[in-house]
Amino acid sequence: MAGIRRRELIKTATVGGVALSLGGAQGLLVANEEVRAQEAPLRVASWPNRQLLDLLKIEHPLIQAPMGLHTSPAMPVAVGRAGGLGSFPCSTFTAAQLRDLGRKLLAQTDRPLNLNFFCHVTKRNPALEAAWLKRLAPYYTELEVNPPAALVSARPPFDAEMCDAVVELKPRVVSFHFGLPEATLVDRLKAAGCVIFSSATTVAEARWLEERGVDAVIAQGLEAGGHRGMFLTTELASQLGTLALVPQVVDAVKIPVIAAGGIADGRGIVAAFALGAAGVQMGTAYLQCPEATISPYERAALKSAKDNLTMVSNVLTGRPARVFVNRIVRELGPLAADAPSFPLGTPALAPLVSKAESQSSADFTGMYGGQAAALGRELACGELTSVLAKEALERIRTLYRAS
Ligand SMILES: Cc1cc2nc3c(=O)[nH]c(=O)nc-3n(C[C@H](O)[C@H](O)[C@H](O)COP(=O)(O)O)c2cc1C
Repeated sequence: MAGIRRRELIKTATVGGVALSLGGAQGLLVANEEVRAQEAPLRVASWPNRQLLDLLKIEHPLIQAPMGLHTSPAMPVAVGRAGGLGSFPCSTFTAAQLRDLGRKLLAQTDRPLNLNFFCHVTKRNPALEAAWLKRLAPYYTELEVNPPAALVSARPPFDAEMCDAVVELKPRVVSFHFGLPEATLVDRLKAAGCVIFSSATTVAEARWLEERGVDAVIAQGLEAGGHRGMFLTTELASQLGTLALVPQVVDAVKIPVIAAGGIADGRGIVAAFALGAAGVQMGTAYLQCPEATISPYERAALKSAKDNLTMVSNVLTGRPARVFVNRIVRELGPLAADAPSFPLGTPALAPLVSKAESQSSADFTGMYGGQAAALGRELACGELTSVLAKEALERIRTLYRAS
């Protein structure tokens, strides 16, 4: 009986064509399967899929997500030390800032590190932007602040100048959100020895990324905190949850698939591997770490998080992002058809955010977080990474024993 159940588990775990190597065993489908099953509980479980571990030479296929202004340099360093892959978001830097910060960051670790960039295209539309400022006028009046004279973006997309800086820094991984930069830049990064990741929210996006040379695709389910990485579609209503997205992406591409969205503990990590993922990227789970650079408002929102307090809204930046609901999301959104192009929603709200926060109010603050926020724990980044790895490996061992 135990043998039969174990055979079923093996069948399930070969989703995506990768054999489950529970107990570190290489050839699981061997004749003396029952004998090995009896020995297995004494062994330490290993990760079911080694694609990402072998590619990056890391111990645990766990990635701390890049999280805009919420990630301190201490976070990726600590995650790397604990055996995972740490990420550092660079979408708000100039090339000069990137050179300076990147050098300092890379000097702190000899572990692989991921530098993350945005590839958005801002579509300027003066009439729409003026109309949006008009929509915000009652709030400017209420809070007694001046509206911005013009909407100026503080988030340049990845360009040739940035690419020069990254090629000099040579991080092990460069990841992108919202697609990819032009092909010549991707080629230059690859020639410099960087591994390229990018987010996909549909099968078509995953295929598009693979065709353009991406080394691993991050399948981002709708549960995810922060901006939707969507770039071939704007149709939010048809975006998939992680459970449905990951296996379909695994079936569609040959490159390793990293699951993201709603994963915050060992249970979610093991589920992602059962779906065929080669790794897991977690953002919201790391937001409660003391090293995270989040506002007191967001920390409070995370502490009191429940299953139903986030929504996908475009009123904060112009692009759909999963956030904790606050006044501006409720009153103008969650989705506004007339929001300006990303990232111009941010400067439009900036005077309101500053004034409200000076009065201890988070009515206009962007508080990004995913559906699994309530599963978050207040642990230091390195410790959290070790705990997540331990939980997942123990759960794998338990499932294996149960078979
Ligand atoms: C606060 C926050 C900020 C984020 N900022 C970025 C970013 O700058 N770049 C990026 O590629 N992804 C960003 N993301 C999305 C993550 O890469 C990832 O897809 C997401 O966190 C996974 O879902 P989870 O939050 O449920 O773990 C952000 C997520 C959060 C929660």
